[in-house]
Amino acid sequence: MSFNCRSLIKGTYFPPGDKSISHRILILAGQVIGKSKISNLLQGDDVINTLKAMKLLGVQIFKTDKHYEVFGIPPGGLIQPKKIIDFGNSGTGIRLISGLISSNNIEVKLIGDSSLSKRPMKRVTEHLSKIGATIKLRSESFPPIKIKGTGNAVPLTFEILIPSAQIKSAIMLSALNTNGTVKIKEFKTTRDHTENMLKSMGYNIKVKENSLHRFIEMKNNQDLKTINYNVPGDPSSAAFFISAACLKPGSKLIVRNILFNKTRVGFIKTLKKMGGNIKVIRKRKIHNELIADLKIEQKKNLNSTTLESVDVPLQVDEIPILSIAASFADGLSIFRGLKELTVKESNRLLLIHKNLKKIGVKSEIKNFDLYIYGNHNLKKGAGVIKHDDDHRILMSFFIANMICKKNNIIKDKSCVKTSYPTFFKHIYQFSN
Ligand code: S3P
Repeated sequence: MSFNCRSLIKGTYFPPGDKSISHRILILAGQVIGKSKISNLLQGDDVINTLKAMKLLGVQIFKTDKHYEVFGIPPGGLIQPKKIIDFGNSGTGIRLISGLISSNNIEVKLIGDSSLSKRPMKRVTEHLSKIGATIKLRSESFPPIKIKGTGNAVPLTFEILIPSAQIKSAIMLSALNTNGTVKIKEFKTTRDHTENMLKSMGYNIKVKENSLHRFIEMKNNQDLKTINYNVPGDPSSAAFFISAACLKPGSKLIVRNILFNKTRVGFIKTLKKMGGNIKVIRKRKIHNELIADLKIEQKKNLNSTTLESVDVPLQVDEIPILSIAASFADGLSIFRGLKELTVKESNRLLLIHKNLKKIGVKSEIKNFDLYIYGNHNLKKGAGVIKHDDDHRILMSFFIANMICKKNNIIKDKSCVKTSYPTFFKHIYQFSN
């Protein structure tokens, strides 16, 4: 069965395990003495690299038929790894584990692939240096990261000026082995899985929010407890199929067990605003995370929308697929304040713009705002997609085949394994 402009999306779909939660549960279960169990861990390369990193740092992790078993070591007990740690493509892995290492008395070199080697790390390491870690970066900004951690981290108050869960989580992980109270002020739009997981594991953490900011206080005077964790489905992966279903009237998709944390489902709000017929059919809370089942029953074409900068962090990874939705929605859509997209796995803002042109959609970039001139006519397609091995760009422009007369040409599709190894299997399963 081919995937093209006649395709509809139909069926009952379980998205793969959430990437952000998979990284965090491996790291945090790795900081508890005793056995934790993790099921539905994402099998993407990014997460497997974090798993390997935790093993190199002394954590024992075993895979059984049904789950992973993690036998952790207490905060401060990381062992000196014998090798350089390679994080592949993963910004989350390298940044979070930099935080963990920085308050342990070990010396480590962290590297990544050519994309990760171009991504800014100073945004994280400038905070970690303040607790007493000695950190060197290539050209003062990029990986390799050389860290000499401190066993005597200074408890500080941090204010984070970029809305980034990776910066916050790196600081929070350093706090696990910091005596005293660590305080963080950040934008409340960033994902809060580290906070939720620490609460579920019995840690002494307080979280407050006002209309713009979140305030976190951590004290390492209560041991973490072991946990049995079933990783919920990844909304950022499901976004490809949910958006695809909304693109095509006649589609009908049930989504089961999707993570429904409000910091992650901004794209659902955006699609609904555009006329996407998405309904929550069940909701529950497990380990402080909201999880839902959804029904998408699309009856009409989408309309254009405007997304304001403050709402971008709530859907930062979904802008590429939302730009495909906007291309097939009647009218001008504007996504404002996309500067962070320029420092993701690729310069996503530029690649979205260039690839839209290749498939026959007019767009403009003005001061990090993206303008997309959409309509629900089929696009010419047959574009040679430039994805720079960025998984989300590739998957978005593969979904774009649904709105093109001729399929686009996408060479080397292997980067989907970063976050969604079963993407093409699911395309085959749910397209009709
Ligand atoms: C992530 C946070 C986001 C997101 C990334 C995963 C996380 O990055 O883009 O895919 O798991 O913390 P930033 O925190 O840098 O915005």
